[in-house]
Amino acid sequence: MNVLVVGSGGREHALAWKLRQSPRTDKLLIAPGNPGTATLGQNVAVAADDVGGLVAVAQEARVDLVVIGPEAALEAGLADALATVGIRCFGPTKAAARIESSKVWSKQLMQRVGIPTARFRSFGDGAAAHAFLRSEPWEQWRVIKLDGLAAGKGVVVAQSAEELHAAIDSFGSTGMPLILEEPLSGEELSLLALCDGVKAVPLLPAQDHKRLLDGDQGPNTGGMGAYAPLPQVDETLVGSLQGRIFEPVLRALAAEGTPLVGVLYAGLMLTPTGVQVLEFNARFGDPETQALLPLLDGDLLEIMLACVEGRLQADMVRWYAGAALGVVLAAAGYPEAPRKGDRIDLPAAVGDGLIFQGGTALAGEGLVTAGGRVLTVVGQAPTLAEAAERAYALAQQVAFAGKQMRSDIGQRGLTVEHH
Ligand code: AMP
Ligand code: GLY
Repeated sequence: MNVLVVGSGGREHALAWKLRQSPRTDKLLIAPGNPGTATLGQNVAVAADDVGGLVAVAQEARVDLVVIGPEAALEAGLADALATVGIRCFGPTKAAARIESSKVWSKQLMQRVGIPTARFRSFGDGAAAHAFLRSEPWEQWRVIKLDGLAAGKGVVVAQSAEELHAAIDSFGSTGMPLILEEPLSGEELSLLALCDGVKAVPLLPAQDHKRLLDGDQGPNTGGMGAYAPLPQVDETLVGSLQGRIFEPVLRALAAEGTPLVGVLYAGLMLTPTGVQVLEFNARFGDPETQALLPLLDGDLLEIMLACVEGRLQADMVRWYAGAALGVVLAAAGYPEAPRKGDRIDLPAAVGDGLIFQGGTALAGEGLVTAGGRVLTVVGQAPTLAEAAERAYALAQQVAFAGKQMRSDIGQRGLTVEHH
């Protein structure tokens, strides 16, 4: 089978790595890919949101399955365009992907089907939001979200009325609708489920680290590291979410004539009063995927085919024992203005670790930085503590000027594992 992976980050390198292991994978194409994916298959210089270009590549190369990484490709309607030419796609249609691309639509759906989520109000513009707050205590509505895709920059949890009003002005200036939401607190986790339109099979729970600096300080990023599974989260609770969260959403989407095939990713918070859904995404997470796929004991291509053919079974998704932990190495200036062109020195041998490339490029013989999240270094081991040790030992051996990384990835899980 010929497979095309769309995207160019660490997530797509991990997807290509796992798909390459399938005995059924013949030709593996990655568009546009990165120097890491080029070691596994053939990179094609077409952008992830160039729908016409990607369809042409898939037709020419007789691709049997397209696997979509980034949300931009979903929003551009790649899955829809592939369907019209009869090419199978792991990744939802533009309509089903609204669960991620419109937070207002997504919140309304959650409300309609009874999924626990923070109380909210939606507004057509900033003026309406300011007006609402005149008769409401700001503290109770201090989470502001932009309706559309914003690459991780669409949410502010304001610490003061001034900050809230400033965020309303800044979000309002985009012209997009916005949401004010009640603040919640608790342990956050990412639970991704594989979906065949009707059934959802959750992966192991994972945890991202969104802030740039140790101790969850500094600006928000796309994610600075992730690990799985989570010793601090009860397995039976996670199991119960299949019926409480994922399947009601799949039923609602199918009832609207837009079934979701691909990944439904729930950003969850374990609050003192129970699980709440912060958001849904319609794709694999980055960097969660780099920690999850090494733990998957199974043939990812077979599993994805089962999803697109509507015959997914829970027993197709098995896991190796132990834990995996990924540390993101980011470029100087990330997330504001990542610097490009710094030479990267990789260790000659990675031992039993893995290095997934993201924002990298070839310059002459060598590798240079070419984006914000440059690499994800993953350690896998029987315990989370050993996985962290392995990941950090390998991360120390990667050198480039201005390298940024957090030193506390996995801390919340490690605290529990040690007790
Ligand atoms: P989202 O893109 O909706 O997942 O939001 C990004 C981040 O903002 C989340 O990972 C949370 O840390 C935070 N967040 C979102 N919604 C809330 C909320 N209602 N209360 C507190 N924090 C939130
Ligand atoms: N790691 C967060 C995301 O992929 O949205």
